[in-house]
Amino acid sequence: DASDIEKGPYPHYMLKEIDEQPSVIRNVVSKYQDRNGEIAIDSNIREAMKGSDRIYIIGCGTSFHAGLVGKQLLEKMADVPVEVHVASEFLYNRPILSGKPLFIMISQSGETADSRGVLVEIKKLGYRALTITNVAGSTLSREADYTLLTHAGPEIAVASTKAYTAQLAVLTILAYDCAKAKGMDIGFDPVGELSLAANAMEIMINRKEKMEEIVWSYLSATRNCFFIGRSVDYFVCLEGALKLKEISYIQAEGFAGGELKHGTIALIEEGTPVVALLTQASIAGNIRSNVQEVMARGASVCMISMEGLEESSDRLVIPKVHEYLAPLVSVIPLQLIAYYAALFRGCDVDKPRNLAKSVTVE
Ligand code: G6P
Repeated sequence: DASDIEKGPYPHYMLKEIDEQPSVIRNVVSKYQDRNGEIAIDSNIREAMKGSDRIYIIGCGTSFHAGLVGKQLLEKMADVPVEVHVASEFLYNRPILSGKPLFIMISQSGETADSRGVLVEIKKLGYRALTITNVAGSTLSREADYTLLTHAGPEIAVASTKAYTAQLAVLTILAYDCAKAKGMDIGFDPVGELSLAANAMEIMINRKEKMEEIVWSYLSATRNCFFIGRSVDYFVCLEGALKLKEISYIQAEGFAGGELKHGTIALIEEGTPVVALLTQASIAGNIRSNVQEVMARGASVCMISMEGLEESSDRLVIPKVHEYLAPLVSVIPLQLIAYYAALFRGCDVDKPRNLAKSVTVE
């Protein structure tokens, strides 16, 4: 049938979409380059960003996780305060808004009812919103003041992969453009760095057997799995854990390395798999000591580190990219681990139970 043709040689959409990621990132860059090859976004969006004193990012699921990374990008590059909220909670736990807020709705489908609920409410209050979406003409795009498209192409698998990395690329471009508009000299070349990140993603994608081996040795007979990281690695851990639980049904949780000792470490037993992520030089010592703590309690640790920060016992080393862009690369092995774990367990990779690609009820 038609869906088989679209899948081409791939057994699953998810694998196809994982593989497409390097070209998606290259495509996003080209879509946001002007005639001189410089990164440039719509001047109305630039003005809206410049004119706001605080950004409120709203999303659900994987798009919420992209928002967490986006907060770091915007704060570090453009020095603009950002809050990130889960859409379904925003209206109950409504933050006290700043004087000139700008809302950024992140949604692959642009149809998620929870996110739309927030948009409708803040529009009533007279605030402006920018939607970052993969679907031109979607509800959230039409109802917001501005749109930035993620240009990832249709995403069919329920578990989001290429839409997430495309969201990260667009957030990088937005943060860079915002910094530039404010006259900041941040010494970051988005075109060059994103292209290096795309190459690094490709290298990881070409090492699939390695991820299969990891699944075989850590996840073949487990009922749970923990992902630990600090700083931005923690946000990627949340996404890695979500991928694993969504499609393999292994109970998985992402934790901030420093929080382990405040409760979670009680769950570590002999053989409990722990995936640890390390891409940021500033937290290397701390996450390595968390790894020691869980190993001392019997955990079986799969350490994934970035070149330059690795130790010989690390299970996987990802190529070096700019620290801002590490999530684009470090998420790839986590996506593939989830994929192979689901395959290994005979799960329906593209259509996991109880989940829908786009959730249009609140
Ligand atoms: C659903 C999907 C998730 C997705 C979330 C948000 O729950 O199963 O994969 O992250 O909705 O979707 P959106 O289209 O708003 O990004």
